[in-house]
Amino acid sequence: MTTCGVRIAGTGSAVPDRRLTNDDLAQMVDTSDEWIRKRTGISERRVVDRESGEGQFTLACTAMQRALDDAQMRADELDLIINATVSAEMTCPSNACRIGAHIGAGTAGAFDLVAACCGYVYAINLADSLIRSGRHRAVGIIGCDAMSTLLDYDDRSVSILFGDAAGAAVLVADDDPDRGCLHQVMEADGNGWESLYIPRKEADVAEGAVGEHIKLGCLRMDGKGVYRFAVGKFQKVIEEALQHTGLAVDDIAQFICHQSNVRIIESAKEKIGLPDEKVYINIDRYGNSSAGSVGLCFDELRRAGKVVEGDRVIFVAFGGGMTWSSSVWKV
Ligand code: COA
Repeated sequence: MTTCGVRIAGTGSAVPDRRLTNDDLAQMVDTSDEWIRKRTGISERRVVDRESGEGQFTLACTAMQRALDDAQMRADELDLIINATVSAEMTCPSNACRIGAHIGAGTAGAFDLVAACCGYVYAINLADSLIRSGRHRAVGIIGCDAMSTLLDYDDRSVSILFGDAAGAAVLVADDDPDRGCLHQVMEADGNGWESLYIPRKEADVAEGAVGEHIKLGCLRMDGKGVYRFAVGKFQKVIEEALQHTGLAVDDIAQFICHQSNVRIIESAKEKIGLPDEKVYINIDRYGNSSAGSVGLCFDELRRAGKVVEGDRVIFVAFGGGMTWSSSVWKV
């Protein structure tokens, strides 16, 4: 191991222009703006225009390029690209390889990472560890999902929740070993896979779901089960991160949480006693954008001057798998 630290040299994000409001959804299925707002906190979400070629690849490329511009770096200065997603157009090649080619990253290593909504936090943890190991000097990470390409818009219990977005960051080696990730958690329990999954063929469909209306290639979710899991997990993961680092709530500038459902975030906030101004919420504008959400929040916070150099922040996410993760940073 080297003794270097890790600096976040730049961030970027991207969302499609096309808005899908709650009222739009109410034209498609039996739902209402009032129900969606009350149960989830969402007013609208963004969705890619597939006919014009928009998708995970294009959103991820835009976010990565913006992060490079913010870092004032060229793509060929990256030596690795990690694209966290569940909605890549193809499984081979990885979208990360195509992103690298598109932005001009030369022969930088590239792979997609599948950790559902935990994707960005898994990626930032991994990138920090790879840079500290001395194997890599500059890593581009992207959390990006075009969830609208994986939804059955006839299924009101799932379709109302998700939207499309990308968040990216450029991480580089830094002389200060105290800079970067101070503590990280990446865990999973595959026993819970049936709570959130995308069946590709009949045989993938969970046993209990036989006879239900099932659209292959579309996300299936046990909303109540995920809700229960998430409420407990968010609180536990944040409390563990504080305990392990010896930091108090006052020491943290922002708790950057996956935007799953505003009620899940509010519940953790109340139980731990986090002040409103330290828990960023943008789910009202973008819905749950899976791997895109944490990076999108972080980029908006940096742009608004709410996270500045030297601040400590905690990234937290949970998602399909089931997976959960946290990352405490001195940025
Ligand atoms: N519009 C109107 N009514 C709806 C509806 C919709 N979109 N979806 C469900 N309903 C109805 C149900 O049919 C049910 O009706 P009933 O009482 O007559 O049977 C009622 O509303 C309550 O449904 P329920 O499923 O109990 O709602 P809920 O309060 O659990 O909210 C979720 C549903 C999906 C919003 C909520 O469970 C949730 O957010 N879960 C976590 C999901 C998550 O975070 N996933 C991502 C993980 S990364």
